[in-house]
Amino acid sequence: MPRLAVIGHPVAHSRSPAMQNAALAALGLGEEWSYEAIDVAPEEFEARVRAMAAGGFAGVNVTVPHKLAALAMADIKSEMAREIGAANTLIFRARGIEAHNTDAGGLVASLPRSPRGQRALVLGAGGAARAAIWALGMEAVGVDIWNRTPARAETIRIEVAERARDLEVKIEVTAVQDGRDPGVDLDQSGYELIVNTTAVGLRDEDPFEHLPLRRDGFGPGQVVVDMVYGDRPSTLLAAAAAAGATTVDGIEVLVQQGALSFEIWTGQKPPLDVMRAAARA
Ligand code: ATR
Repeated sequence: MPRLAVIGHPVAHSRSPAMQNAALAALGLGEEWSYEAIDVAPEEFEARVRAMAAGGFAGVNVTVPHKLAALAMADIKSEMAREIGAANTLIFRARGIEAHNTDAGGLVASLPRSPRGQRALVLGAGGAARAAIWALGMEAVGVDIWNRTPARAETIRIEVAERARDLEVKIEVTAVQDGRDPGVDLDQSGYELIVNTTAVGLRDEDPFEHLPLRRDGFGPGQVVVDMVYGDRPSTLLAAAAAAGATTVDGIEVLVQQGALSFEIWTGQKPPLDVMRAAARA
């Protein structure tokens, strides 16, 4: 019986087991396959994954703080996972452990329309930001990065520019400063797509205090994505929606990355509506 799991630390609150088990059941795979959450400390990560690969598991999702370690230990790495420098999906094959990153594709799939040719602003410079920047960059949009600590945004910009040149893909990335800085203007209404990957909002912080955004700076025609999710719409998305922007929440991104992982493991397209309902229950 092929087992699947999400490995994190902590991981108890993950919505992935409910979502993935619902998808397995809907496709009639529920008797055969299963998906669980397993808390593994960083120092045990590699040994545990090797034991799982050897003992009944078909693959795993990997979440914070293991995404870099997951990529590092894999024998085969997808190009997207290599570029992003992190893996969220492993599949255990006869020829070795294969690493993928579905966070990037999941973000693009969650958008109501293709970001091709659009100007995007990514807030943050952590792991989630890297996936977003590569995903949007590959879709040929100009991407600006803002981060509270500007040096981290600049580091990503340089890295992406260098890798893109090596790969001969055109990715335009600019690090931008806070619009409140004298002489520098972050024109919020000039972006067709704004993606918040920062932790702001997780603990009920006011996004309009911590991020370079104005509550009244959104408008129709814009798409605003907030990776932070909870049981109600985030303050950021509520303001964007009130101003007529189209909003995408972190659960939709989670569902889309989970669907891509599901397809990698089972070779089947999962029912998105079933996954969505389970993730939101
Ligand atoms: P992840 O891998 O999930 O993206 P991370 O690497 O811890 O997580 O990154 C968290 C992001 O949220 C960072 O961009 C961080 O900004 P810094 O690089 O300046 O730390 C951002 N962040 C967290 N709290 C913030 C706050 N109060 N205001 C602005 N940005 C914040």
